[in-house]
Amino acid sequence: ELDDLQERFDATIAAEQRIEPRDWMPEAYRRTLIRQIGQHAHSEIIGMQPEGNWITRAPSLKRKSILMAKVQDEAGHGLYLYSAAETLGIDRTTMTEQLIDGTAKYSSIFNYPTPTWADMGAIGWLVDGAAICNQVPLCRASYGPYGRAMVRICKEESFHQRQGFEILYELSHGTPAQHRMAQEAVDRWWWPALMMFGPPDADSPNTAQSMEWKIKRFTNDELRQRFIDMSVPQAEVLGLALPDPDLRWNEATGHYDSGEIDWTEFTEVLKGRGPCNALRVSNRRRAHEGGAWVREAAAAYAQKQAARAAA
Ligand code: 3HC
Repeated sequence: ELDDLQERFDATIAAEQRIEPRDWMPEAYRRTLIRQIGQHAHSEIIGMQPEGNWITRAPSLKRKSILMAKVQDEAGHGLYLYSAAETLGIDRTTMTEQLIDGTAKYSSIFNYPTPTWADMGAIGWLVDGAAICNQVPLCRASYGPYGRAMVRICKEESFHQRQGFEILYELSHGTPAQHRMAQEAVDRWWWPALMMFGPPDADSPNTAQSMEWKIKRFTNDELRQRFIDMSVPQAEVLGLALPDPDLRWNEATGHYDSGEIDWTEFTEVLKGRGPCNALRVSNRRRAHEGGAWVREAAAAYAQKQAARAAA
């Protein structure tokens, strides 16, 4: 019986078809998806904080309304992804508790500060650019709800990346002080953006299995390389330098060679010792506690409605 179920699961994956919530799936597949989709959702919600920091201080009404739209998009991405995770048997309350008590991971990239307006450009161009490299292949993830959520999210991400590039372009071609501000932001965000793709394949315990299950379509290093190859020409158009003296085109491989990433920094951030980890989690806790009355009121109202309907 179990062999038939496993066989049907394997055949569905091999045939490039989707596993849907009601289908049988190996427990390990379910757990991997809850882990990855949950972390992805947490990343979107925490990712609202670095940019939210500049909504009240944006340099123009146009920039302010674009930034607000972007942060709202990220809240929506979080909700899609929490809903996708809920189809696997975990509920949002549990996931939120895990985020607030620090047991759930979210992307390392959101633990860095945003000291200047140029960081809004660097986040849009580099962080959303990296997100697009990572998320486009996820549109073909074997688990239906995840792949479908990604299609909608990717459409909105490309607007995020475009507006970030435009902010940097304007600053880079502005006054010397504005150019310097843009360069400093790129210097701060380049290496953490490369770390977003995860540890090197040799140190990635989950990649092989995730590739076999066609959750991941490419390895961490392959997507990181794709992002580097995409970013170097864009930096030239921006007139900004990437902070890696070892970056150079390799005719033989058809890719850019790049310098060593500081994986100790990555490990430190994952252990909660990044520049903003404590701030991000305490902000999330305060927002959750501050919203308790809304959840209670909604639950009380739903009960009254249900009682009225039953009467
Ligand atoms: N930040 C935090 N943790 C990370 C990480 C990162 N950048 N990269 C890897 N890790 C963790 C993994 O979660 C795993 O820990 P766990 O087993 O306890 O979960 C461990 O490090 C080993 O890494 P693996 O490569 O083996 O893990 P994965 O196979 O899960 O690969 C991943 C990591 C590539 C991030 C993959 O989980 C993934 O593609 N996730 C979906 C995309 C995502 O979450 N993007 C984050 C940014 S969200 C975003 O960009 C929003 C946009 O609007 C800006």
